[in-house]
Amino acid sequence: MKQHSQTLVATRHARTMDDVYRYQRYIYDLTRKYYLFGRDTLLNTLDIPDGARVLEIGCGTGRNLVVAARANPQALFYGFDISSQMLKTASAKAAKAGVGERVFTVAGDAENFDARRAFQLAGFERVLFSYSLSMVPDWQRAFTNALDQLTPGGSAHIVDFGDMERWPGFARTLMLKWLARFHVEPRAGMTDFVETLAKQRGLSASTRRLAGGYAVLIVVSDDPVPAGQKPSDKSADGDDVTFLHKMIP
Ligand SMILES: C[S@@+](CC[C@H](N)C(=O)[O-])C[C@H]1O[C@@H](n2cnc3c(N)ncnc32)[C@H](O)[C@@H]1O
Repeated sequence: MKQHSQTLVATRHARTMDDVYRYQRYIYDLTRKYYLFGRDTLLNTLDIPDGARVLEIGCGTGRNLVVAARANPQALFYGFDISSQMLKTASAKAAKAGVGERVFTVAGDAENFDARRAFQLAGFERVLFSYSLSMVPDWQRAFTNALDQLTPGGSAHIVDFGDMERWPGFARTLMLKWLARFHVEPRAGMTDFVETLAKQRGLSASTRRLAGGYAVLIVVSDDPVPAGQKPSDKSADGDDVTFLHKMIP
């Protein structure tokens, strides 16, 4: 019975995501360039070894997979998403960028999808969530599921909305209302949850706040200071930083 109701919830969520993105997917990359801040900074933390298999959970239009595949010609890239609408754009985009032979996508729900089984692999050296945990209803379950799919020595990388701690109250409230229209909810307690889970698994979690807490970047690995996570590391999203610094005191 529990299994049955979970399936119904997942089906409803998949439908909602398809409804949100059916038409938006055509303008998605253009419109999200500025407000999905930190995605290039996240890609810089991946430090992808040759031959690695990289998985993006909630890969959307495949924007990150294509950028990373172009920069890492010796690695293979996998993505899944609950919206089959978004995946149509992702596979077209990878083919157009000439990386279609190294980028593989499939539909799945982050809460329970076994990407190892779907792609017939033992695991992934890198797993990433880019602005997807804030849309997955049971995001704790999704992150736990992701850690299970890492190879030994692998790392998990998250970028998502933060607590916007340095934002004026009214701007924060407006932003949260705006995000809710798209079924996005910044996850209170995400950093604590991830750090605790990492510790339980004998891993470290390194957290960086970007742009006054607008976004948070977390890397879970067996390295206490992974690539791109030193406080002095510059954000790779140069244009986006300029844009946000104008908005944030
Ligand atoms: C804001 S978009 C981010 C897309 C991409 N990661 C990026 O950075 O451009 C969030 C994505 O998460 C997907 N998503 C939401 N809930 C999901 C779930 N339960 N399982 C898998 N994907 C999900 C949505 O369909 C959407 O494509």
